[in-house]
Amino acid sequence: MTFSIRDATTADLAAITEIYRDSVLNGTASYEIAPPDLPEMTSRQAGILEKGYPYIVAEADDGSLLGYAYASAFRTRPAYRWLVEDSIYLAPEARGRGVGKALLKELLTRCETLGFRQMVAVIGGASPASIAVHKSLGFEMTGTLKGTGFKHGKWLDTVLMQIALGEGKETDPDLSAYPGTL
Ligand SMILES: CC(C)(COP(=O)(O)OP(=O)(O)OC[C@H]1O[C@@H](n2cnc3c(N)ncnc32)[C@H](O)[C@@H]1OP(=O)(O)O)[C@@H](O)C(=O)NCCC(=O)NCCS
Repeated sequence: MTFSIRDATTADLAAITEIYRDSVLNGTASYEIAPPDLPEMTSRQAGILEKGYPYIVAEADDGSLLGYAYASAFRTRPAYRWLVEDSIYLAPEARGRGVGKALLKELLTRCETLGFRQMVAVIGGASPASIAVHKSLGFEMTGTLKGTGFKHGKWLDTVLMQIALGEGKETDPDLSAYPGTL
């Protein structure tokens, strides 16, 4: 399957909403129970882009949307601003073909270029596919939070994985540069 990765636009939101809907209803990556509708997903995308975080999609050669990924704040208090959390969601038929890895690789590059210093994956339900895609790009396990959620009739653990971006914590960040100006 050939595909390309590009910036997400508002025109992608119907497909993005459908992809996320499937994951909310059938998976444990998201701890939401009721899938958000198109206006809500539109508002969430706008909020991410307004803050300067990358939001990208993978598009098949026939124009169909295979998946999307974005970075966002892990927590909003200012000293956290060099740390981003990644999110990746693929349509079920697009999984296991390298699309998730390609999206995450692009997200890593963009976040490093923007000046972020660490990325964390907060892996709901300790999904083996999600752990594998992060491990394949160099993320390390940093911990497991146990019994963090209850969904589909069972308790879920959350696995945390992390990777340094650029100089990581080896040097001080440039306080005058984005994302330091947020
Ligand atoms: C998790 C997800 C993003 C992974 O993307 P993907 O396109 O299916 O994964 P890829 O095909 O790019 O595989 C990347 C690596 O993970 C491995 N992998 C993929 N699925 C796997 C699985 N179910 N079990 C074990 N390893 C798996 C691949 O073998 C590959 O390893 P390699 O690079 O060493 O060869 C995707 O399956 C998905 O959208 N799942 C539902 C939502 C979700 O869990 N999102 C993550 C939120 S943190």
